[in-house]
Amino acid sequence: MVSMSRMGAAWRGAGIAVAERLFLDRQAEFWMGELDPVLSLGELRARVIEVVEETRDTKTFVLRPNAAWRGHRAGQYTSVEVEIDGMRVRRCYSISSARGDALVSITVKRVPDGRVSTWLHETVRAGHILRLGAPAGDFVLPSPAPEKLLLLSGGSGITPVMSMLRDLAARDAIDDVVFVHHARSRADVIFGDELADLSARHAGLRLVLCLDDDASAPRGFDEAYFAKLVPDFGERSTFLCGPKPLMDRAERLWERVGATDLLELERFTPQLRPLPALASTHGVQVRLRRSARDVVAKGGGSLLEQLERAGERPAHGCRIGICHTCKCRKQSGTVQNLVTGEVSSEPDEEIQLCLSIPRSDLELDL
Ligand SMILES: Cc1cc2nc3c(=O)[nH]c(=O)nc-3n(C[C@H](O)[C@H](O)[C@H](O)COP(=O)(O)OP(=O)(O)OC[C@H]3O[C@@H](n4cnc5c(N)ncnc54)[C@H](O)[C@@H]3O)c2cc1C
Ligand code: FES
Repeated sequence: MVSMSRMGAAWRGAGIAVAERLFLDRQAEFWMGELDPVLSLGELRARVIEVVEETRDTKTFVLRPNAAWRGHRAGQYTSVEVEIDGMRVRRCYSISSARGDALVSITVKRVPDGRVSTWLHETVRAGHILRLGAPAGDFVLPSPAPEKLLLLSGGSGITPVMSMLRDLAARDAIDDVVFVHHARSRADVIFGDELADLSARHAGLRLVLCLDDDASAPRGFDEAYFAKLVPDFGERSTFLCGPKPLMDRAERLWERVGATDLLELERFTPQLRPLPALASTHGVQVRLRRSARDVVAKGGGSLLEQLERAGERPAHGCRIGICHTCKCRKQSGTVQNLVTGEVSSEPDEEIQLCLSIPRSDLELDL
């Protein structure tokens, strides 16, 4: 039998080996970063190769990721983490380039007063290094591609469906694709020249631009007009991404014709339900177990926003319940889900901070 002292020595030895390994990894990480900031042992980073002005409010950032990038499927998104005023913030951006391209691109519309989109537009130049998240999301073009395809988008929602179209073009697989895009004007059509070029070169691509400044057509997504434009829409595998009003209307139309199983959607903004205000205006006590701190969460919005207001920096990505970066265990207390409205007091339960609002004092494994 192995004596307790020999076992203790073995454990200590293993502990020292792990600590040495960690130390060496950190040193390697540091020196690799000194050598070239894009190099990293495990972190996904990318060098900005080019910044392309697409329209008056949209830029494409062409990136060369490091070896940690394992490729993406057309339609997926990545997250970009940046430091603004000493705070790390992260946002999701669909990858607009085709699958398998050596360079990866994201295309960002500048949102008025938006923290990250404004920062990216104003700060990021060629040579800048960005931290990325692994590609994620199941809004993806199936393989093999559906025979009859409809790509339907509005504004910056064009990014994931453009990746799909570029992917098909790269494989010379544009057989029967209708691409309908909504924009304010022709000058606001992101990738306008490339779309025109692709439709001129591929007989299997029908491009329809719905422009708000076109007096001969209705503004936005008009169900009757759309049904005339694409009469067989209910038979096509459809990928839809755009502003909320467009998506809501389109979703209703697909429901009406009983074709929702052919409709895939990607939302950039949350589908939250209005909930009654918190009973208490004094806020709730939140015990953060791992950091052994107590904070007061108050002021409305999600638990994520309330914790941020209290000076905490919980990990987060999309802020709308898609990426699961903000998930954590709630040890005790009551939260309400902003999407389902469900109130839960279960102990030791996994919650998403961006989708929860506190309904009592809480203890979180943060
Ligand atoms: C899966 C996914 C993919 C995405 N892909 C893209 C993409 O390819 N290109 C792109 O430009 N954006 C994309 N987004 C949106 C992006 O993640 C950010 O939400 C957007 O850039 C705004 O962030 P911000 O920090 O500038 O604004 P914030 O500071 O977070 O918000 C400022 C204000 O703008 C509003 N707002 C936030 N997002 C939007 C929006 N998209 N449109 C209008 N108002 C908004 C907020 O409600 C708030 O009032 C994607 C989002 C998700 C979840
Ligand atoms: S931040 Fe993405 S799910 Fe909450």
